[in-house]
Amino acid sequence: MTTSKVQVRQLDTVDIGAVTAIDEKISGGYHPDEWERRIGYYLRRDPDAALAAVIDGEVVGFMLGEVRSGEFGLAEPTGWIEVLGVDPDHQGSSIGRRLAETLLDHFKRCGAEKVRTLVDEEMPDIAGFFESLGFEPASLKPFVKSL
Ligand SMILES: CC(C)(COP(=O)(O)OP(=O)(O)OC[C@H]1O[C@@H](n2cnc3c(N)ncnc32)[C@H](O)[C@@H]1OP(=O)(O)O)[C@@H](O)C(=O)NCCC(=O)NCCS
Repeated sequence: MTTSKVQVRQLDTVDIGAVTAIDEKISGGYHPDEWERRIGYYLRRDPDAALAAVIDGEVVGFMLGEVRSGEFGLAEPTGWIEVLGVDPDHQGSSIGRRLAETLLDHFKRCGAEKVRTLVDEEMPDIAGFFESLGFEPASLKPFVKSL
């Protein structure tokens, strides 16, 4: 499959079903309400940072993020990539890279000088993806406490 057929466009609420299905293929879980809430949140915050990759009208990947500043002691505007997924049938075809490049261009236009994300150590595939895109380990360390 060639990547020239892939188009990246803004995600729309009509894509919620497709995103839910991609997540189900990746994770095995069916969570339509969760995706409706999550996509609604990102579309309200910054619709240009909610992206779909489409081949022949079919959504095959998505990426959600936003630019924030003043959080976690980071003064500068920072683009955050927070949710992503590529249909397993289409992985390895540069779709994730196309989504990230489009999102990073948007972050730059919004004044962000850095882009950050968080990856669980138990997900080395996603870490490998970000390393291929030039991401490096950062000093920001996550902390957690059970409630
Ligand atoms: C990570 C993910 C987005 C990558 O998408 P993709 O379209 O397959 O990636 P690409 O083909 O654009 O690859 C871009 C680069 O990342 C690298 N890469 C991709 N997957 C990789 C992996 N599993 N391990 C190491 N490197 C990887 C590629 O080699 C490529 O590098 P190159 O351009 O230097 O050759 C995709 O595998 C995915 O959706 N994984 C599951 C995500 C998930 O669990 N989301 C939460 C639930 S929704």
